[in-house]
Amino acid sequence: MVLENSELIIKTFQGLEDVLAQECRQLGFRDIEILNRAVKINGSLKDLYRANYFLRTAIKVLVPVFSFSARNDEELYDGIKKYDWLDVLDPSMTLAIECVLHSEFFTHSKFIAQKTKDAIVDQIRDRTKRRPRVDLENPDFRISLHITEDKIKVFLDSSGDPLFKRGYRIGLHQAPLNEVLAAGLLLIAGWKGKGNLVDPMCGSGTLLIEGAMIAHGLPPGMYREKFGFEVWNGFDQDLYSDVTEEDYHHDKFVAKIVGGDISQKNIRIARENLHRSSLFKKVELVNEAMETFVPPSGGGWMVTNPPYGDRLKMPEINNLYGSLGSRLKHFYKNYQAWVLSGNMSALKNVGLRPSFKKNLVNGSIPCLYSKYDLYEGSLKQSKRQ
Ligand SMILES: C[S@@+](CC[C@H](N)C(=O)[O-])C[C@H]1O[C@@H](n2cnc3c(N)ncnc32)[C@H](O)[C@@H]1O
Repeated sequence: MVLENSELIIKTFQGLEDVLAQECRQLGFRDIEILNRAVKINGSLKDLYRANYFLRTAIKVLVPVFSFSARNDEELYDGIKKYDWLDVLDPSMTLAIECVLHSEFFTHSKFIAQKTKDAIVDQIRDRTKRRPRVDLENPDFRISLHITEDKIKVFLDSSGDPLFKRGYRIGLHQAPLNEVLAAGLLLIAGWKGKGNLVDPMCGSGTLLIEGAMIAHGLPPGMYREKFGFEVWNGFDQDLYSDVTEEDYHHDKFVAKIVGGDISQKNIRIARENLHRSSLFKKVELVNEAMETFVPPSGGGWMVTNPPYGDRLKMPEINNLYGSLGSRLKHFYKNYQAWVLSGNMSALKNVGLRPSFKKNLVNGSIPCLYSKYDLYEGSLKQSKRQ
Protein backbone atom coordinates (compact mmCIF):
# COMPACT_ATOMS: atom_id res chain seq x y z
CA MET A 1 0.00 0.00 0.00
CA VAL A 2 1.30 3.43 -0.97
CA LEU A 3 0.71 6.11 1.64
CA GLU A 4 1.92 9.66 1.14
CA ASN A 5 0.32 12.46 3.09
CA SER A 6 -2.69 10.18 3.54
CA GLU A 7 -5.40 10.59 6.16
CA LEU A 8 -4.96 8.31 9.17
CA ILE A 9 -7.60 7.97 11.89
CA ILE A 10 -6.21 7.02 15.30
CA LYS A 11 -8.84 5.81 17.73
CA THR A 12 -8.74 6.17 21.50
CA PHE A 13 -11.02 6.16 24.55
CA GLN A 14 -13.40 8.97 25.42
CA GLY A 15 -11.53 11.66 27.35
CA LEU A 16 -8.06 10.70 26.04
CA GLU A 17 -8.28 12.65 22.75
CA ASP A 18 -6.13 15.57 23.99
CA VAL A 19 -3.43 13.28 25.39
CA LEU A 20 -3.33 11.32 22.13
CA ALA A 21 -3.06 14.57 20.13
CA GLN A 22 -0.16 15.62 22.37
CA GLU A 23 1.57 12.27 21.74
CA CYS A 24 1.06 12.83 17.99
CA ARG A 25 2.65 16.29 18.29
CA GLN A 26 5.65 14.79 20.10
CA LEU A 27 6.10 12.25 17.31
CA GLY A 28 6.12 15.12 14.80
CA PHE A 29 2.90 14.12 13.00
CA ARG A 30 1.26 16.71 10.73
CA ASP A 31 -2.23 18.20 10.44
CA ILE A 32 -3.44 16.90 13.78
CA GLU A 33 -7.18 17.23 14.28
CA ILE A 34 -9.07 16.12 17.39
CA LEU A 35 -12.25 14.10 16.74
CA ASN A 36 -14.65 12.29 19.04
CA ARG A 37 -12.68 9.35 20.53
CA ALA A 38 -10.09 9.74 17.77
CA VAL A 39 -7.39 11.96 16.31
CA LYS A 40 -6.87 12.53 12.59
CA ILE A 41 -3.42 13.09 11.07
CA ASN A 42 -1.96 13.13 7.59
CA GLY A 43 0.95 10.79 7.21
CA SER A 44 3.13 8.40 5.26
CA LEU A 45 3.59 4.63 5.53
CA LYS A 46 6.36 5.28 8.06
CA ASP A 47 3.98 7.44 10.12
CA LEU A 48 1.49 4.56 10.08
CA TYR A 49 4.13 2.18 11.47
CA ARG A 50 5.29 4.79 14.02
CA ALA A 51 1.73 5.54 15.19
CA ASN A 52 1.14 1.84 15.87
CA TYR A 53 4.50 1.32 17.56
CA PHE A 54 4.88 4.47 19.67
CA LEU A 55 1.47 5.86 20.63
CA ARG A 56 0.57 4.79 24.17
CA THR A 57 -3.02 6.03 24.06
CA ALA A 58 -3.98 4.71 20.61
CA ILE A 59 -6.37 1.76 20.33
CA LYS A 60 -6.13 1.32 16.56
CA VAL A 61 -4.88 3.15 13.50
CA LEU A 62 -7.29 3.15 10.56
CA VAL A 63 -6.57 3.95 6.92
CA PRO A 64 -9.57 5.27 4.98
CA VAL A 65 -9.75 3.54 1.58
CA PHE A 66 -12.99 4.65 -0.03
CA SER A 67 -16.46 5.98 0.70
CA PHE A 68 -19.84 5.95 -1.00
CA SER A 69 -23.54 6.49 -0.35
CA ALA A 70 -26.05 3.70 0.25
CA ARG A 71 -29.54 3.52 1.69
CA ASN A 72 -30.28 -0.21 1.52
CA ASP A 73 -28.54 -3.61 1.50
CA GLU A 74 -28.24 -3.85 -2.29
CA GLU A 75 -26.62 -0.42 -2.58
CA LEU A 76 -24.25 -1.34 0.24
CA TYR A 77 -23.34 -4.66 -1.47
CA ASP A 78 -22.79 -2.95 -4.85
CA GLY A 79 -20.73 -0.13 -3.31
CA ILE A 80 -18.42 -2.54 -1.49
CA LYS A 81 -18.01 -4.66 -4.64
CA LYS A 82 -16.84 -1.66 -6.70
CA TYR A 83 -13.54 -1.46 -4.82
CA ASP A 84 -10.65 -3.58 -6.12
CA TRP A 85 -10.18 -5.83 -3.09
CA LEU A 86 -7.35 -7.82 -4.70
CA ASP A 87 -5.35 -4.62 -4.42
CA VAL A 88 -5.16 -5.10 -0.66
CA LEU A 89 -6.31 -8.66 0.06
CA ASP A 90 -4.90 -12.03 -0.83
CA PRO A 91 -7.52 -14.83 -1.25
CA SER A 92 -5.61 -16.99 1.24
CA MET A 93 -6.13 -14.42 4.03
CA THR A 94 -8.76 -14.62 6.75
CA LEU A 95 -10.78 -11.49 7.45
CA ALA A 96 -13.07 -9.83 10.00
CA ILE A 97 -15.37 -6.86 9.56
CA GLU A 98 -16.33 -4.36 12.27
CA CYS A 99 -19.20 -1.87 11.86
CA VAL A 100 -19.88 1.39 13.68
CA LEU A 101 -23.44 2.53 12.93
CA HIS A 102 -25.16 5.89 13.37
CA SER A 103 -27.87 5.53 10.75
CA GLU A 104 -31.59 5.21 10.29
CA PHE A 105 -30.97 3.21 7.08
CA PHE A 106 -28.74 0.57 8.66
CA THR A 107 -29.37 -0.70 12.16
CA HIS A 108 -27.95 -4.24 12.52
CA SER A 109 -24.16 -4.27 12.61
CA LYS A 110 -23.88 -8.09 12.32
CA PHE A 111 -26.03 -8.10 9.21
CA ILE A 112 -24.04 -5.21 7.65
CA ALA A 113 -20.78 -7.06 8.38
CA GLN A 114 -22.21 -10.19 6.72
CA LYS A 115 -23.34 -8.25 3.64
CA THR A 116 -19.93 -6.55 3.35
CA LYS A 117 -18.14 -9.88 3.68
CA ASP A 118 -20.39 -11.40 0.95
CA ALA A 119 -19.54 -8.55 -1.44
CA ILE A 120 -15.78 -8.91 -0.85
CA VAL A 121 -15.76 -12.72 -1.02
CA ASP A 122 -18.01 -12.81 -4.13
CA GLN A 123 -15.73 -10.36 -5.95
CA ILE A 124 -12.54 -12.28 -5.11
CA ARG A 125 -14.11 -15.67 -5.90
CA ASP A 126 -15.40 -14.45 -9.28
CA ARG A 127 -11.93 -13.24 -10.18
CA THR A 128 -9.67 -15.92 -8.70
CA LYS A 129 -11.92 -18.95 -8.02
CA ARG A 130 -10.60 -18.79 -4.45
CA ARG A 131 -12.26 -17.17 -1.44
CA PRO A 132 -10.97 -15.60 1.77
CA ARG A 133 -12.42 -17.05 4.98
CA VAL A 134 -13.89 -15.19 7.95
CA ASP A 135 -12.08 -15.51 11.29
CA LEU A 136 -13.51 -13.32 14.02
CA GLU A 137 -10.94 -14.34 16.65
CA ASN A 138 -7.62 -14.00 14.91
CA PRO A 139 -8.05 -12.61 11.39
CA ASP A 140 -5.16 -11.65 9.12
CA PHE A 141 -7.05 -8.64 7.87
CA ARG A 142 -9.54 -6.33 9.61
CA ILE A 143 -11.91 -4.01 7.79
CA SER A 144 -13.80 -1.29 9.60
CA LEU A 145 -17.03 0.24 8.29
CA HIS A 146 -18.30 3.56 9.67
CA ILE A 147 -21.86 4.36 8.61
CA THR A 148 -23.37 7.78 9.33
CA GLU A 149 -26.86 7.91 7.83
CA ASP A 150 -26.26 7.05 4.11
CA LYS A 151 -22.49 7.78 4.11
CA ILE A 152 -20.40 4.61 4.17
CA LYS A 153 -16.70 4.98 4.96
CA VAL A 154 -14.46 1.94 4.58
CA PHE A 155 -11.20 1.71 6.54
CA LEU A 156 -8.42 -0.84 6.76
CA ASP A 157 -7.37 -1.49 10.35
CA SER A 158 -3.58 -1.40 10.34
CA SER A 159 -3.23 -2.45 13.99
CA GLY A 160 -4.80 -5.93 13.93
CA ASP A 161 -5.44 -6.78 17.55
CA PRO A 162 -6.27 -3.54 19.41
CA LEU A 163 -3.14 -1.77 20.62
CA PHE A 164 -4.03 -2.18 24.31
CA LYS A 165 -3.14 -5.83 23.81
CA ARG A 166 0.48 -4.94 24.43
CA GLY A 167 1.59 -8.54 24.87
CA TYR A 168 2.87 -8.44 28.46
CA ARG A 169 -0.30 -9.48 30.29
CA ILE A 170 -0.48 -13.14 31.31
CA GLY A 171 -2.12 -13.22 34.71
CA LEU A 172 -5.82 -12.47 34.73
CA HIS A 173 -6.88 -10.06 37.46
CA GLN A 174 -10.62 -9.69 38.10
CA ALA A 175 -10.75 -5.97 37.24
CA PRO A 176 -7.57 -5.00 35.38
CA LEU A 177 -7.27 -1.48 34.04
CA ASN A 178 -7.05 -1.30 30.27
CA GLU A 179 -3.42 -0.63 29.27
CA VAL A 180 -4.33 2.34 27.04
CA LEU A 181 -6.43 3.91 29.81
CA ALA A 182 -3.59 3.31 32.32
CA ALA A 183 -1.09 5.03 30.01
CA GLY A 184 -3.58 7.87 29.50
CA LEU A 185 -3.99 8.32 33.27
CA LEU A 186 -0.22 8.57 33.69
CA LEU A 187 0.20 11.02 30.81
CA ILE A 188 -2.68 13.21 32.08
CA ALA A 189 -0.94 13.19 35.47
CA GLY A 190 2.22 14.43 33.76
CA TRP A 191 4.23 11.32 34.69
CA LYS A 192 7.54 11.41 32.83
CA GLY A 193 9.73 9.56 35.29
CA LYS A 194 10.73 12.58 37.36
CA GLY A 195 10.16 11.28 40.92
CA ASN A 196 8.71 8.16 42.51
CA LEU A 197 5.61 6.40 41.23
CA VAL A 198 3.40 4.39 43.60
CA ASP A 199 0.12 2.53 43.34
CA PRO A 200 -0.92 1.19 46.77
CA MET A 201 -3.84 -0.80 45.27
CA CYS A 202 -2.02 -2.02 42.19
CA GLY A 203 -3.98 -5.20 41.32
CA SER A 204 -2.29 -6.75 38.28
CA GLY A 205 0.15 -3.83 38.10
CA THR A 206 -0.99 -2.15 34.88
CA LEU A 207 -0.24 1.41 36.08
CA LEU A 208 3.18 0.32 37.36
CA ILE A 209 4.12 -1.43 34.11
CA GLU A 210 2.89 1.41 31.88
CA GLY A 211 4.62 3.88 34.25
CA ALA A 212 7.91 1.96 34.08
CA MET A 213 7.70 1.84 30.29
CA ILE A 214 7.28 5.63 30.17
CA ALA A 215 10.05 6.21 32.74
CA HIS A 216 12.51 4.03 30.82
CA GLY A 217 11.45 5.25 27.37
CA LEU A 218 10.20 1.83 26.23
CA PRO A 219 7.75 1.97 23.31
CA PRO A 220 4.36 0.32 23.93
CA GLY A 221 4.68 -1.73 20.73
CA MET A 222 7.87 -3.50 21.77
CA TYR A 223 6.11 -6.56 23.27
CA ARG A 224 3.71 -7.10 20.36
CA GLU A 225 4.22 -10.21 18.27
CA LYS A 226 2.61 -8.62 15.24
CA PHE A 227 0.65 -5.71 13.86
CA GLY A 228 -2.06 -5.97 11.20
CA PHE A 229 0.02 -4.08 8.62
CA GLU A 230 2.69 -6.82 8.63
CA VAL A 231 0.53 -9.03 6.37
CA TRP A 232 -0.52 -6.23 4.04
CA ASN A 233 0.55 -6.26 0.39
CA GLY A 234 3.62 -4.06 0.13
CA PHE A 235 4.66 -4.38 3.79
CA ASP A 236 8.06 -2.68 3.96
CA GLN A 237 10.19 -4.67 6.43
CA ASP A 238 13.19 -2.31 6.13
CA LEU A 239 11.05 0.74 6.84
CA TYR A 240 9.45 -1.03 9.82
CA SER A 241 12.92 -1.99 11.14
CA ASP A 242 13.92 1.69 10.90
CA VAL A 243 10.95 2.47 13.16
CA THR A 244 11.65 -0.21 15.77
CA GLU A 245 15.32 0.76 15.85
CA GLU A 246 14.57 4.48 16.09
CA ASP A 247 16.76 6.32 18.54
CA TYR A 248 14.69 8.19 21.07
CA HIS A 249 16.22 10.21 23.85
CA HIS A 250 15.16 9.77 27.46
CA ASP A 251 16.84 10.65 30.75
CA LYS A 252 18.02 7.87 33.04
CA PHE A 253 15.32 6.99 35.58
CA VAL A 254 16.68 7.14 39.12
CA ALA A 255 13.60 7.12 41.41
CA LYS A 256 11.42 4.21 42.58
CA ILE A 257 8.30 2.55 41.24
CA VAL A 258 6.43 0.66 43.97
CA GLY A 259 3.10 -1.16 44.09
CA GLY A 260 1.14 -2.68 46.95
CA ASP A 261 -2.00 -4.78 47.16
CA ILE A 262 -3.82 -6.45 50.02
CA SER A 263 -4.37 -9.57 47.93
CA GLN A 264 -1.53 -12.07 47.68
CA LYS A 265 -3.07 -13.51 44.52
CA ASN A 266 -3.10 -10.10 42.82
CA ILE A 267 0.51 -9.44 43.77
CA ARG A 268 1.40 -12.79 42.20
CA ILE A 269 -0.43 -11.77 39.00
CA ALA A 270 1.36 -8.39 38.97
CA ARG A 271 4.69 -10.20 39.42
CA GLU A 272 3.95 -12.54 36.47
CA ASN A 273 3.09 -9.55 34.27
CA LEU A 274 6.28 -7.78 35.35
CA HIS A 275 8.35 -10.85 34.50
CA ARG A 276 6.71 -11.10 31.10
CA SER A 277 7.50 -7.44 30.43
CA SER A 278 11.09 -7.87 31.75
CA LEU A 279 10.46 -4.95 34.10
CA PHE A 280 10.59 -6.96 37.35
CA LYS A 281 13.89 -5.38 38.39
CA LYS A 282 12.47 -1.90 37.86
CA VAL A 283 9.34 -2.22 40.02
CA GLU A 284 8.99 -3.22 43.70
CA LEU A 285 5.89 -5.06 44.88
CA VAL A 286 4.61 -5.53 48.42
CA ASN A 287 1.71 -7.62 49.64
CA GLU A 288 0.43 -5.02 52.06
CA ALA A 289 -2.77 -3.10 52.79
CA MET A 290 -2.96 0.50 51.59
CA GLU A 291 -3.78 1.36 55.23
CA THR A 292 -0.20 0.52 56.29
CA PHE A 293 1.72 1.01 53.02
CA VAL A 294 4.36 3.77 53.25
CA PRO A 295 5.55 5.30 49.96
CA PRO A 296 9.23 6.07 49.33
CA SER A 297 10.29 9.45 50.67
CA GLY A 298 11.08 12.32 48.35
CA GLY A 299 7.65 12.75 46.79
CA GLY A 300 6.42 11.94 43.33
CA TRP A 301 3.22 10.53 41.87
CA MET A 302 0.60 8.30 43.50
CA VAL A 303 -1.75 7.02 40.81
CA THR A 304 -4.37 4.46 41.77
CA ASN A 305 -7.59 2.80 40.72
CA PRO A 306 -9.26 1.64 43.95
CA PRO A 307 -12.21 -0.78 44.01
CA TYR A 308 -15.46 0.93 43.02
CA GLY A 309 -17.55 -1.10 45.43
CA ASP A 310 -19.16 -3.71 43.16
CA ARG A 311 -18.07 -6.38 45.59
CA LEU A 312 -17.30 -4.27 48.67
CA LYS A 313 -20.48 -3.00 50.28
CA MET A 314 -21.12 0.22 52.23
CA PRO A 315 -19.84 1.25 54.73
CA GLU A 316 -16.64 -0.70 53.88
CA ILE A 317 -16.15 1.11 50.57
CA ASN A 318 -16.60 4.52 52.22
CA ASN A 319 -14.13 3.52 54.93
CA LEU A 320 -11.61 2.40 52.29
CA TYR A 321 -11.73 5.81 50.56
CA GLY A 322 -11.64 7.55 53.96
CA SER A 323 -8.49 5.61 54.89
CA LEU A 324 -6.93 6.48 51.53
CA GLY A 325 -7.52 10.19 52.21
CA SER A 326 -6.10 9.89 55.69
CA ARG A 327 -2.97 8.06 54.43
CA LEU A 328 -2.49 10.70 51.74
CA LYS A 329 -2.64 13.49 54.34
CA HIS A 330 -0.17 11.86 56.71
CA PHE A 331 2.28 9.85 54.59
CA TYR A 332 2.40 11.29 51.07
CA LYS A 333 4.10 14.64 51.59
CA ASN A 334 5.23 16.16 48.29
CA TYR A 335 3.29 13.60 46.28
CA GLN A 336 0.57 14.46 43.83
CA ALA A 337 -2.17 11.89 44.17
CA TRP A 338 -4.39 10.83 41.27
CA VAL A 339 -7.43 8.62 41.88
CA LEU A 340 -9.66 7.07 39.20
CA SER A 341 -13.00 6.00 40.58
CA GLY A 342 -16.42 5.08 39.30
CA ASN A 343 -17.94 5.50 42.76
CA MET A 344 -18.58 9.22 43.14
CA SER A 345 -20.10 9.04 46.59
CA ALA A 346 -17.25 6.88 47.97
CA LEU A 347 -14.75 9.30 46.41
CA LYS A 348 -16.09 12.13 48.59
CA ASN A 349 -14.78 10.24 51.63
CA VAL A 350 -11.19 10.97 50.55
CA GLY A 351 -11.86 14.27 52.31
CA LEU A 352 -9.37 16.34 50.29
CA ARG A 353 -10.24 19.05 47.81
CA PRO A 354 -9.22 17.97 44.28
CA SER A 355 -7.19 20.55 42.37
CA PHE A 356 -8.20 18.96 39.03
CA LYS A 357 -10.99 16.66 37.86
CA LYS A 358 -11.62 14.89 34.57
CA ASN A 359 -14.45 12.65 33.41
CA LEU A 360 -13.30 9.38 31.88
CA VAL A 361 -14.85 6.00 31.12
CA ASN A 362 -13.44 2.71 32.39
CA GLY A 363 -15.00 -0.08 30.29
CA SER A 364 -18.58 1.15 30.39
CA ILE A 365 -18.32 2.78 33.84
CA PRO A 366 -18.31 6.60 33.92
CA CYS A 367 -15.46 7.63 36.21
CA LEU A 368 -13.94 10.72 37.75
CA TYR A 369 -10.17 11.15 37.70
CA SER A 370 -9.20 13.50 40.55
CA LYS A 371 -5.91 15.09 41.51
CA TYR A 372 -4.98 15.94 45.09
CA ASP A 373 -1.89 18.06 45.83
CA LEU A 374 -0.18 17.00 49.01
CA TYR A 375 2.11 19.90 49.81
CA GLU A 376 2.33 21.07 53.42
CA GLY A 377 0.37 24.25 52.56
CA SER A 378 -2.42 22.51 50.67
CA LEU A 379 -2.85 19.94 53.49
CA LYS A 380 -3.15 22.63 56.17
CA GLN A 381 -5.70 24.40 54.01
CA SER A 382 -7.74 21.25 53.45
CA LYS A 383 -7.66 20.43 57.19
CA ARG A 384 -9.02 23.90 57.96
CA GLN A 385 -11.82 23.31 55.45
C1 LIG B 1 -9.80 -2.06 40.69
S1 LIG B 1 -8.54 -3.06 41.29
C2 LIG B 1 -7.08 -2.33 40.65
C3 LIG B 1 -6.77 -2.88 39.29
C4 LIG B 1 -5.43 -2.48 38.78
N1 LIG B 1 -5.35 -1.07 38.46
C5 LIG B 1 -5.02 -3.32 37.59
O1 LIG B 1 -4.72 -2.79 36.52
O2 LIG B 1 -5.05 -4.56 37.69
C6 LIG B 1 -8.41 -2.62 42.97
C7 LIG B 1 -7.37 -3.39 43.75
O3 LIG B 1 -7.36 -2.87 45.08
C8 LIG B 1 -7.01 -3.93 45.95
N2 LIG B 1 -7.41 -3.54 47.31
C9 LIG B 1 -8.65 -3.49 47.83
N3 LIG B 1 -8.60 -3.05 49.12
C10 LIG B 1 -7.29 -2.82 49.41
C11 LIG B 1 -6.60 -2.35 50.53
N4 LIG B 1 -7.24 -2.02 51.65
N5 LIG B 1 -5.25 -2.23 50.46
C12 LIG B 1 -4.58 -2.56 49.32
N6 LIG B 1 -5.20 -3.03 48.22
C13 LIG B 1 -6.53 -3.14 48.24
C14 LIG B 1 -7.73 -5.13 45.37
O4 LIG B 1 -7.12 -6.34 45.80
C15 LIG B 1 -7.61 -4.88 43.87
O5 LIG B 1 -6.49 -5.57 43.34
